Amino acid sequence: MRTFIVLAAAFSFSVFGQFQGGPPQKYDPDWTTLMRHPVPAWFDEAKLGIFVHWGIYSVPAFAPPTGEPGNVDFSKWFANNPYAEWYANTMKIAGSPTALHHQQKYGAGFGYLDFIPQFNQAVAKWDPARMAAAFQDAGARYVVLTTKHHDGFLLWPSKVPNPHRPASQQSASRDIAGELTRAVRDKGMKMGLYYSGGLDWSFVSEPILAMGDLMKRVPQSAEYAAYADAHWRELIDGYQPSVLWDDISYPKAGQTAALFAEYYNRVPDGVINNRFNVPHSDFTTPEYSRYDRIVEKKWESCRGLGFSFGYNQVEGPQHVLPAPELIRLLIDIVSKNGNLLLNVGPRADGSIPEIQLDRLRALGAWLRQNGEAIYATKPWIRPSAKTSDGVAVRFTQKGGSVYAILLDQPKGREAAMEGLFLPGGARVTLLGGGDIPWKQDGRTARLTLPASLPGGSAFAFRITPKPSLLVSE
Ligand code: GLC
Repeated sequence: MRTFIVLAAAFSFSVFGQFQGGPPQKYDPDWTTLMRHPVPAWFDEAKLGIFVHWGIYSVPAFAPPTGEPGNVDFSKWFANNPYAEWYANTMKIAGSPTALHHQQKYGAGFGYLDFIPQFNQAVAKWDPARMAAAFQDAGARYVVLTTKHHDGFLLWPSKVPNPHRPASQQSASRDIAGELTRAVRDKGMKMGLYYSGGLDWSFVSEPILAMGDLMKRVPQSAEYAAYADAHWRELIDGYQPSVLWDDISYPKAGQTAALFAEYYNRVPDGVINNRFNVPHSDFTTPEYSRYDRIVEKKWESCRGLGFSFGYNQVEGPQHVLPAPELIRLLIDIVSKNGNLLLNVGPRADGSIPEIQLDRLRALGAWLRQNGEAIYATKPWIRPSAKTSDGVAVRFTQKGGSVYAILLDQPKGREAAMEGLFLPGGARVTLLGGGDIPWKQDGRTARLTLPASLPGGSAFAFRITPKPSLLVSE
């Protein structure tokens, strides 16, 4: 016999990510207190952040556009690394496309650090306000900048000397971290900082040839642990970042619990990602991947617009996400409790290549019309459904409404969703298009669509009061 279960529309997500009992008055350097740090509302509500990978590697800006990590044979990954920010490693792998390119274009005698003068010359042209405006126009609510990537080069003027490099090769000629932080905050967005704690090729320079090498190249000297700790402290003191975004892992001797406690006492509504690989984090960070269900712990999926984070001149339209797919990606992630940290790889001079700007603009335009269905929403009872003619639907909820977002244009003038039950008198509004007629036809809700749909690639319907979901078993 078929039974139906009506899932309560009042299902509550309010405790997601929250430790019962509230945050401590003061954080101590022990994991039990640190684990009581609640995910602040701003981070959950923001949904869209911009990742910025920018550094010396933005000068050669080269990598073979091999593909997304999930589609590449990992035994061949490092020699064919599509991440342009890995240039310093890939150029050392004999026979790799990057090694060949480097030899042909710059010659064997030209080292990676020889790009520094060009980088510093280029950044003199950078306009931080313009960069921040592009991120704001895209609809982003926060930005995360690489202050030190694996190559060890710093985008802020640190007072902590690197014992392995001459002073002239340690950091950028401008305080990029500070200037971007100010510009981003001027536009009302939050600013976060990325720091590669797990890899620093100025401390351990043997190339990474295979996945098995990765963790072996994490510098474990007391010297490096103190250096990384001092850097994080300097970044926290100097810029009070809203996000600490560590990468790869962290030296075992690093004082992470002390660092986290100092950070939360200074910036209580800050968040820390999970790549320190310690017992506490505010969110997880799937890379070029996402969850296929609602995941209770807050998560943030990151990816480049193409196959690289750092600017890669080789990438063209065939490698870069088309705007409709980018819009669908954001919607899908948000329906499952995630944020999208979308990466931009600026040129060395801080300008953003046109193809990337184009995608940012398209996302911004869609969000200006449909942001109500995205920002500050929670996942609904379930993330997805299909219309009877096969169009994918994603759900979010906020206040007294559920948003049903069609990821494509239905063929006819109707969107029929089986199992969806609208309360009598419910109001259905197409965002950017006004109220639309609907009817409940047994188990199926039938929404009548206007002759033309606004917005192009995905269409959001606000349903108030909330519908119920009938699941057949
Ligand atoms: C990876 C890569 C790196 C990129 C990052 C972004 O760990 O090594 O190049 O910065 O993830 O998620």
